[in-house]
Amino acid sequence: MNTLHVDLGERSYPIHIGSGLLDRADLIRPHIPGKQVMVVSNTTVAPLYLDRLMASLDGLDARSVILPDGEQYKTLDTVNRVFTALLEARFNRSCTLIALGGGVVGDITGFAAASYQRGVHFIQVPTTLLSQVDSSVGGKTGVNHPLGKNMIGAFYQPRVVIADIETLDTLPERELAAGVAEVIKYGLINDPEFFRWLEANIDAINARDRAVLSHAIERSCADKADVVAADERESGTRALLNLGHTFGHAIETGMGYGAWLHGEAVGAGMVMAAHLSHELGWIGDADLSRIESIIARGKLPNRPPQGMDRTRFMELMAVDKKVLDGRLRLVLMRGLCDSVVTGDFDVAALERSLDQQIAEAIDWPPR
Ligand code: NAD
Ligand code: GLY
Repeated sequence: MNTLHVDLGERSYPIHIGSGLLDRADLIRPHIPGKQVMVVSNTTVAPLYLDRLMASLDGLDARSVILPDGEQYKTLDTVNRVFTALLEARFNRSCTLIALGGGVVGDITGFAAASYQRGVHFIQVPTTLLSQVDSSVGGKTGVNHPLGKNMIGAFYQPRVVIADIETLDTLPERELAAGVAEVIKYGLINDPEFFRWLEANIDAINARDRAVLSHAIERSCADKADVVAADERESGTRALLNLGHTFGHAIETGMGYGAWLHGEAVGAGMVMAAHLSHELGWIGDADLSRIESIIARGKLPNRPPQGMDRTRFMELMAVDKKVLDGRLRLVLMRGLCDSVVTGDFDVAALERSLDQQIAEAIDWPPR
């Protein structure tokens, strides 16, 4: 097992990464201050892993609430189901909520923990690659609104993150690839060495080689922990973690939540950001090809979906959280693995780039 730390003063916390960690009561118990524990999971993950986690909570007043599975359930209604379970169990302010699942369960549970009785303890036990490398770390929690992705939420840090990489054995291929998109993201933001390592090891990641996966998760978490420690509330550099997300969120909302997985939309979104950067003359042909190629080798879409025109993209991108005083800001690439958050680009170039990308739109997933 390896342990990293998110350095946030009194709210600092460890991220444990390794095999068989679900059974490690010694890792989780020190972070549960009271007796009352509510494990939040879903109909897919609970049958696989809930019993093992519950065994680690033996002796506590541990209950569970099982949510329906899917991005389309990442809503306030579902958060309310968690509140109902907590109130029915008469849980008080000293209770702890544990998210057992992917990013959807983690985001919902974190938001429930942030708001139940104005804030209770929270633990992340992520079970997808995407949640192990991204969503469980850093304290962004929340749900979608029909008009925009992740529009309702709170910053609320967990007390510990326990990433058991054995849980990835049961992850469907498409979900593994969705996580790979966020791993590639860290390289492309500002970690050229990691990007080169990924180019050499992407096939081993796809094959779920444990040692290679472990390294990818650790490096991703370390990169993310650094950014979060420097800018927890996204007043500046944390927005870099949104590389590909403005285009990606537009795809997710435009196609209907759940049609394209979040990581797939981010994969295509990173290529769209690269394409615009190329259009602006900031990266060269070879850089753009390397980016398109690693996304494709990660079994991800590297073009936008059929069925969305430029007007729809522009309309959806206009509700992005990075919009400042009406000006769209994007994460773009000044060079390969040298990303910046900027509103300083020619909108005509964005429109041209969107038109070119949309002309090559694809049907995904491939039939
Ligand atoms: P997900 O939570 O929907 O999980 C993907 C699928 O895999 C689901 O069907 C789930 O039930 C299943 N699953 C989970 N673990 C499994 C396992 N071990 N074995 C078999 N099946 C398993 O999706 P995700 O990709 O984990 O997360 C995507 C969500 O995370 C999006 O809502 C996105 O907005 C959010 N997100 C949040 C942050 C953040 O900082 N909070 C960052 C990135 C993404
Ligand atoms: N996934 C983006 C962030 O955590 O800021």
